[in-house]
Amino acid sequence: MSAEHIPVLAEQLESLIKLTSNAVIVDATVGYAGHSKIFGGKLGPEGCLLGLDVDEKCLDLAKTNLSDLKCKVLLKKSNFSDISNAMADLGLPKANFILADLGWCSGQIVDSEKGLSFQNNMPLDMRLDADLKTTAAKLVNSLEEDDLADLIFKYGEERASRRIARFIVEYRKNQTIITTGQLSFIICRALGKVPQARGIHPATRTFQALRIAVNDELGNLEKLLENSPELLDKNGYLAIISFHSLEDRIVKQFFNAKSKEGVFELITKKPMVADEKEIGLNPRSRSAKLRIARKI
Ligand SMILES: C[S@@+](CC[C@H](N)C(=O)[O-])C[C@H]1O[C@@H](n2cnc3c(N)ncnc32)[C@H](O)[C@@H]1O
Repeated sequence: MSAEHIPVLAEQLESLIKLTSNAVIVDATVGYAGHSKIFGGKLGPEGCLLGLDVDEKCLDLAKTNLSDLKCKVLLKKSNFSDISNAMADLGLPKANFILADLGWCSGQIVDSEKGLSFQNNMPLDMRLDADLKTTAAKLVNSLEEDDLADLIFKYGEERASRRIARFIVEYRKNQTIITTGQLSFIICRALGKVPQARGIHPATRTFQALRIAVNDELGNLEKLLENSPELLDKNGYLAIISFHSLEDRIVKQFFNAKSKEGVFELITKKPMVADEKEIGLNPRSRSAKLRIARKI
């Protein structure tokens, strides 16, 4: 798996998050440790960085990438929905900064074991955590047509969800769908479109929907948010970088509710986004939205 991954919105984060050298940082999505290296680099030997990830390969790369930090570095395979237990297990009652940079790393999308890509043909899997039981192939081959359509509509916001579900069900009468290439082909046929060199691929929304369902992305995000206030020290920061409107809506509503309750002060009134320069260097940053709150 390639270790190339440019951390998004890093400058904006750095300008707004102020930490002392003895801070405790929890990077809930450590990935290749791009953000962790920047923020962990601000800590002295008395500081601590805990990195969580569901993907063991990321944790291995993060270990290498963080090997020269001065602070204590802890890495743990854990879903961030279980952040409270992860911190308790490692003797960390409170954090000064919790960061979640949602989604996947660049290397994961081309990793054939992950089965996430419609650009490359690979087994249709989509599990970021290899211990999960349900793959995308299992969903597309077993769900009833209506349930499949609902899933594609709800998590992909795909208006042609019923038509795509019908084409999937027709196709699987003759052949089991086992690759991302097969699924991409079915979606393109259903939409009567061919992928273009520019613009959004016809399969984007359906693939997003399946990935969200397989990994329970929205449910996990809600649990991370619910647990965070009690895990943050006074003045501790919670920063979430999201990549699609379903995630950002959840973060926005949660931050606004906690702000009204007097639990959080909103550091970003509106989400921060990448500027043209960053988008030019890292096209993935185009859809990134950063929201930061501070515990009062
Ligand atoms: C966008 S990448 C993070 C990149 C990282 N900030 C960096 O700069 O290298 C997202 C990471 O979160 C992990 N991930 C996704 N969902 C997760 C979850 N529910 N719990 C823990 N890790 C998760 C993915 O495996 C991936 O490594």
